[in-house]
Amino acid sequence: MASHSVVSLFFIYISLFSSLCLADDPFVSYKFVLSYITASPLGVSQQVIAINGHFPGPIINVTTNNNVVVNVRNKLDEDLLMTWAGIQQKRSSWQDGVLGTNCPIPPKWNWTYQFQVKDQIESFFYFPSLNFQRASGGYGGFIINNRDIISIPFATPDEDITILIGDWYT
Ligand SMILES: *[C@@H]1O[C@H](CO)[C@@H](O)[C@H](O)[C@H]1NC(C)=O
Ligand SMILES: *[C@@H]1O[C@H](CO)[C@@H](O)[C@H](O)[C@H]1NC(C)=O
Repeated sequence: MASHSVVSLFFIYISLFSSLCLADDPFVSYKFVLSYITASPLGVSQQVIAINGHFPGPIINVTTNNNVVVNVRNKLDEDLLMTWAGIQQKRSSWQDGVLGTNCPIPPKWNWTYQFQVKDQIESFFYFPSLNFQRASGGYGGFIINNRDIISIPFATPDEDITILIGDWYT
């Protein structure tokens, strides 16, 4: 009986502690401006979707439990929906950037996605999910690192190299 109470107290302590932590989780903000550039990824000059003038787009590099805020401005002449592939949207399923749960961002508009990355330590990616836009750019890497207090079973890599593989059409 006594040990049972200790265990319950321990769990109460854990849940209090974790809810306190939630309030303190840092916010990390990004600004994405999507526009067309001319580039030659296959050696043929063509229109490519860029983010902040670059293809591929910036790497979102955050730590688990961070609150990620991404303001996406659509300077394309078509609708846009940014999908955060593989990111669990635990309390924000309407922010996943999938048609049906999220409305597309019309041309000249912007939308601020906000979600918490939680209990995921991995490499992901984001991509524009409408009309096969992903086959003409607009995507990039999304890294979620471990917090220092959560150890990983391998040494910290000397370097991270992001490799994105996709279909491409000229
Ligand atoms: C991501 O951020 C971590 C620090 O949190 C840093 O060690 C790492 O080099 C960064 N990776 C990239 C690809 O920017
Ligand atoms: C984003 O859209 C809001 C309206 O939804 C507007 O007030 C704001 O100026 C826009 N910001 C940018 C950077 O386009």
